[in-house]
Amino acid sequence: MAAEQPTATTRPRPGTGSAAGDATAVAHPNIALVKYWGKRDEQLVLPWTDSLSMTLDVFPTTTRVRLDPGAGEDTVTLDGTPLEGEPRRRVTAFLDLVRERAGSPLRAVVDTRNTVPTGAGLASSASGFAALATAAGAAYGLGLDATGLSRLARRGSGSASRSVFGGFAIWHAGQPDRGGDPDLGSYAEPVPVPVAALDPALVVAVVDAGPKAVSSREAMRRTVATSPLYRPWAASSQADLTEMQEALRRADLDAVGEVAERNALGMHATMLAARPAVRYLSAATVTVLDAVLELRRAGVSAWATMDAGPNVKVLCRRSEADRVAGVVREAVRGGSVHIAGPGPGARLLDAAA
Ligand code: DP6
Repeated sequence: MAAEQPTATTRPRPGTGSAAGDATAVAHPNIALVKYWGKRDEQLVLPWTDSLSMTLDVFPTTTRVRLDPGAGEDTVTLDGTPLEGEPRRRVTAFLDLVRERAGSPLRAVVDTRNTVPTGAGLASSASGFAALATAAGAAYGLGLDATGLSRLARRGSGSASRSVFGGFAIWHAGQPDRGGDPDLGSYAEPVPVPVAALDPALVVAVVDAGPKAVSSREAMRRTVATSPLYRPWAASSQADLTEMQEALRRADLDAVGEVAERNALGMHATMLAARPAVRYLSAATVTVLDAVLELRRAGVSAWATMDAGPNVKVLCRRSEADRVAGVVREAVRGGSVHIAGPGPGARLLDAAA
């Protein structure tokens, strides 16, 4: 299959009913197979390394942005509840950036509906900021193409740059030393993958849907600043990326899984070596990792990856996903298990939808 074409544009399409100043967008989370961990520029959200992910077809976020000419401040709600503190500040800072680019002083009403447990290391910030960038870009009339939208989403949350695209996407770190505007070089784009031959699925094991103790932002910062393992991991991650791209091209699921699992375990090793240590993996995580190992011993191609939380995503063939999900469900007991395939990029919904 050819690469998913970018489906997102922030220019309201004529005839769709998208009203200026009012736009709704939907985006899906993505799971990195080669991870993003560590920023070289906090303000611009520029990473140290390239990363590569699969956008999922589950857990969409839907966000409506409506400009409110009479309002003195932004109103931001998540699933009907007003956001406060740091989460609210991140959204309003993002809107400030959009307003600055649009040359608009207008405040907005932002209404977000999440179907993924927020803050549980299941990439809710990726779908959240991809949907917000798409909706806010349209509401404020920025007229961005998919690349511009990916750069904008990156400013909200790094991983959101990849959720702008469906299927598989690579986020370029951008060259820090080439001069010019560093913002321009750091965006995601689709990776052409023979998806039918690869037949990928991610079995998502939610072992704990509660919010995490340390935000990924803080954990990343601490890892880069204090972990003696960070630089070696970043170097090996670049090599992993090259191998990953070759494995995807060949539709070699075993090779894709092997690289993804070692890249994720290496990322967690960098955190465990940070001072003080950041440990997202729990006893339940290790139980699922053991189950994945058992599946491999039984001849099933199953590989684990974990993000900033204890939950495990198991990469396997779609044709074997039910069997994998059954084994994982036994292992998590009490947790929930979901099967995801490759999903679509961020897109605007018609105003009437
Ligand atoms: C472990 O994109 O949430 O999921 O840029 O600080 O918002 P910020 O971080 P975020 O980090 C995601 C980290 C990860 C790996 C990945 O998705 O590549």
